[in-house]
Amino acid sequence: MKLSSKVAIVTGGSRGIGKATAILLAQHGANVVITSKNNSSLQNAAKEMKNVVAIPGDIRKNTDVENVVKVTLEKFGKIDILVNNAGIFPKVKPLHEISEEEWNDVIDVNLTGQFRFTKAVIPHLMETNGCIVNVSSDAGLKSFENFEADAYTASKGALVLLTKAWAVEYAKYKIRVNCVCPGIVETDMTSPWLESEADRAMAVAEHPIGRIGMPEDVAKAILYLVSNDSSWITGAILPVDGGIITK
Ligand SMILES: NC(=O)c1ccc[n+]([C@@H]2O[C@H](COP(=O)([O-])OP(=O)(O)OC[C@H]3O[C@@H](n4cnc5c(N)ncnc54)[C@H](OP(=O)(O)O)[C@@H]3O)[C@@H](O)[C@H]2O)c1
Repeated sequence: MKLSSKVAIVTGGSRGIGKATAILLAQHGANVVITSKNNSSLQNAAKEMKNVVAIPGDIRKNTDVENVVKVTLEKFGKIDILVNNAGIFPKVKPLHEISEEEWNDVIDVNLTGQFRFTKAVIPHLMETNGCIVNVSSDAGLKSFENFEADAYTASKGALVLLTKAWAVEYAKYKIRVNCVCPGIVETDMTSPWLESEADRAMAVAEHPIGRIGMPEDVAKAILYLVSNDSSWITGAILPVDGGIITK
């Protein structure tokens, strides 16, 4: 029980990596709040888990974000852990075909959304000497041929450097800030690229370790980064990607 008596907020906790993370943190003793935009899928997800509470909120709206923090404090009295995981993937197209609206939509969720949650939670982490894990992507570390998701790349690259900036900025409050960069993980986000056997084989071939990731692979790395096992680690950028980034 690495997280007994800890209180964690996992954004985008209704599905995929966020859901697996919420389950694992709760299994290790944390009281977990999951939050996401779609209330019915969020509530259904929470019903499947123990020690997990659902508080809906659209990460694009400051009032929703502040409400998630307020209700968490009313229920549990403190916050120890924030996992900035919520994210969207845009329609794939080259940069010169992206509208400014499409660009802003992605930045609003994947980057400004993480800013909103971090800003709202940090004052409470100061009281608990808590920690943050940002969920970026290998796409935030290097460019991939034919990836053509520029706003996503921008948001994930920014999150990598913000991890280091926040780690330095808040170390004086004993707040640790780290980041995971997943490769291709089997979730709703990637399902369009994993439909046929040929697509799947191509995705597998990208990963030197010989398989794509499962949400639990990323959740286990997040558990390490939010537990005391990593108490001397801050500002770290951890690829969780079957070796893609080494190629
Ligand atoms: N899957 C991969 O291969 C992969 C690789 C690298 C990085 N990542 C990153 O890992 C994170 C999780 O990805 P995933 O694959 O687990 O995605 P997913 O299965 O599509 O889940 C995305 C989560 O984000 C939430 N979300 C989206 N827009 C939101 C909004 N406006 N307000 C609140 N919540 C919102 C969704 O909730 P609703 O359903 O309520 O909208 C959902 O819970 C993302 O940041 C993604 O970029 C994923």
